[in-house]
Amino acid sequence: MSTITFILKDGSRRMVDIDDHPNAMQAAQFNNIPGIEAACGGFCSCATCHVYVESAEHLKGPRALPPPAPDEAAMLGGTAAQRDKKTSRLSCQILLSPALDGLVLRIPDRQ
Ligand code: FES
Repeated sequence: MSTITFILKDGSRRMVDIDDHPNAMQAAQFNNIPGIEAACGGFCSCATCHVYVESAEHLKGPRALPPPAPDEAAMLGGTAAQRDKKTSRLSCQILLSPALDGLVLRIPDRQ
């Protein structure tokens, strides 16, 4: 079983199984993680699934996430919470695989 962890707005952590979910947004919604609206349903056109990547190994090095595609990068320019150039991502664009076991995502204070 592979898992990722969400850090909620109140600072609490929720670990969820990712084995049956294609992306981090869907894993959050399936597990009733609050704070990810995902208004467009995962079509990279709303920026209401914004998260910050907190696990250092997923930012740099062999386990790093691939950089945002141009459409994700463009949508990140419209997040409600402050964008962080290094850690902000759209959770619907984080494609899950066992290689992302241990990924930690922090949910911003607003979407
Ligand atoms: S769900 Fe709309 S951009 Fe991710």
